[in-house]
Amino acid sequence: MCGIVGYYGSENAAPILLNGLEKLEYRGYDSAGIAVVDGGKLQLVRKKGSVSELFSARGIQGHLGIGHTRWATHGAPSEINAHPHVYGKFAVVHNGIIENEYSLKEECRARGDVFSSETDSEVIAHLLDFYYEGNLVTAVKDTVERLKGSYALAVVCEECDCIVCVRKASPLVVGIGKNGVYAASDVSAIAAEGVTVYSLDDGELAVLSTEITFFNQNLVRIEKEKIEYDAEEEIPDLKGYRHFMRKEMAEIPQVLGKSIYDYTEETYREFYRILTQTEQIQIVACGTAYHSGLCAKYAIESLCRIPVEVCIASEYRYLDPIVRSGTLALAVSQSGETADTLAAAQLAKNKGAYLAAVTNVPYSSLTRIADAVLPTNAGREVAVAATKSFHAQLVLLYSLASALAKAKGREECLPHIYDLLDQVKCAEETCEEVRSWVPHFLGARSVFFLGRGADYASSLEGSLKLKEITYLPSEGYPAGELKHGTLALVDCSTPVVAVLTQKAFAEKTMNAVHEVYARGAKVFLITCFEEYCNRKEVTSSVLIPVCKEEFTPVLSVLPLQALAYYVSIARGNNPDKPRNLAKSVTVE
Ligand code: F6R
Repeated sequence: MCGIVGYYGSENAAPILLNGLEKLEYRGYDSAGIAVVDGGKLQLVRKKGSVSELFSARGIQGHLGIGHTRWATHGAPSEINAHPHVYGKFAVVHNGIIENEYSLKEECRARGDVFSSETDSEVIAHLLDFYYEGNLVTAVKDTVERLKGSYALAVVCEECDCIVCVRKASPLVVGIGKNGVYAASDVSAIAAEGVTVYSLDDGELAVLSTEITFFNQNLVRIEKEKIEYDAEEEIPDLKGYRHFMRKEMAEIPQVLGKSIYDYTEETYREFYRILTQTEQIQIVACGTAYHSGLCAKYAIESLCRIPVEVCIASEYRYLDPIVRSGTLALAVSQSGETADTLAAAQLAKNKGAYLAAVTNVPYSSLTRIADAVLPTNAGREVAVAATKSFHAQLVLLYSLASALAKAKGREECLPHIYDLLDQVKCAEETCEEVRSWVPHFLGARSVFFLGRGADYASSLEGSLKLKEITYLPSEGYPAGELKHGTLALVDCSTPVVAVLTQKAFAEKTMNAVHEVYARGAKVFLITCFEEYCNRKEVTSSVLIPVCKEEFTPVLSVLPLQALAYYVSIARGNNPDKPRNLAKSVTVE
C-alpha cells in the first residue's frame, strides 16, 4: 500500500525523505510527495509517478519533514491526489482508509472548507485545522477521535517544531539515529546501523523532535520497548539479477532449509500441545498465502486426517464463521500486515481459536495479536509478486503436518521434507526450461492452468502469478470441472498448463488434457512422471523430481513462477512492480 516517512534532525530532511521513499516504493508507486517545514513555512512537492520524479525536491532546505508514496484507493493517481495533503498550516501523510470521509467532509464544507483532492485523506488536514488551538498533539488526538477506519499518520504544522505520528490498524514505526529521529510505515525505510526502532500500537502517539516522546490515546506518557530487526536484511540488493523476483526465486533452495521445523514437545511446548490436540484447523489468508494454505490443506488432511478449512480472510472476517472448541487458527501472511488477514485472525481468536501467526516479519502487527508466532524466515521479499515466501510458508505448514502425523502415530514425514532441499535444486533448473514456452503465451487471449488435488492448488498459484505480472487473463481450474462450462472458452489460441504430480489422478487429469487438445489448445505439462511427457497432446513438458506426493507444490510451483516471470519480461513489463498492485495490502 502507501508508504510514509518522516525525519527531524540535524541534516536536511529532503534527501533523507526521498531515500526513505525509494525504499518504500514496493508499497505503492502511483505518485509521491514531500512536505518540509523551514522558517515557519511549509514547502510542498508532489508528483505523479515514481519517487524519482521528485528529484527537484532534493535541494529543499529544512530539518523536518514528511513524505509519502501512494497506492491509489480514493481518487486517481495524480499530483493533486498525491500526499502530503495540506490545509491551512498543516500537512499530513496517511496510510489506510477513512470510512466516514463523506460525513466528515460535509461537516467541513458546512464550515466553508473547500477540498482540492478526491482523497479521503485530505479531510484529516481540514480537521486538524479545525481542532488546532496552539497544541499540535491535542489537535491530532481530537482529529483521530473523529476518524473511522484505519490510519497511520504523520503530521507537521508550520508553527510547530515537531512531527506527530499516530496509528490505528496500519503499521507505523519510529526510530532514533545519531543524526535525528525518523518515522516510517516500514522499518526498511529507516533501517541502518544504529537506528533504534520502536513500533507504535493502535491508538499510541509519538512526538518526534530532538527526542521521541510516546503517549497513549489519553495523552498519558508511556515508555516503549525497542524492536529487534536485521539492518542488513532490510537493505534490498539485486546481487547482479535483473529483477528482485528472479533473485528471490533463485533463493528458494536456501530459504527452504530455514523454514523446516521439527515441532516436538521439548522445543515447542505450548504450541505443540495445541497442535497435537487440535480437532480442526482453520487457515485464514489472502492471495498467494491463501494458496499456500490450500496446498497445506491437502497435505494435512491426507497425512493427519484432520479437517482443514482454508478461508479467504476478506470473506471470513464478515461471515460470522463457526469456530469449534479446540480449533487451531493459522493466519498465514508474508507481511503480517495484511488488513483482511489481521481482522480474520483477530476474529478467530475472539471466537476462541488458538491463533498462530505464520509470517515472514517477526515484528509485524500479526505477531502482536497471535498466541504463537511461527516465522517463515524467507528473508526480505522485495518483488510485489510473492515467490520465496510462498515456498517458505509451504514447508513450514508441511512441517506442522509432519509433527501432527507423527503425534497421531500415522507416519514420519520429516525426512521427506528434508529431501525437498535437494529436489528443489533440480526443480530450479526447470525455471530456464520454461523460457521456450514464452512465445506461445505472448499472443494468447487467455490461459488455463489445470490440476487436481494439490495440483489444483498449484494451478491457482500459477494463474495468479501470471495474471499479476503479465496482465494476461487466466484461470486456475480443477481439471475435472472444465467440461461444466469453461471448456467453451478454449480454442487454438488458449495455452493450457497442466500440472500432474498426483499418481492417483494422473489419467484423470490427462482426460482434461485430451479435451482441450481436441479443441486445438496447446498443452504445456509440468509433471514428475516421465511417461506423460511425450504424449502427442503435449506440446512441451518439464520434468520435476519425484517427491512425497503431498509436498509436490514445492517443486511444481517453481516453473510456474518462472513462466509468469519470463512472459512478463517478454511483454515489456516490470515484474517487480506490476501495475495497480502493492506488496503489503494494509487497507481493506
Ligand atoms: C501475490 C501476492 C499477494 C499476497 C497477498 C497477501 O503474489 O503477493 O496475493 O500474497 O496480498 O499478502 P501477505 O502474505 O503479506 O498477507
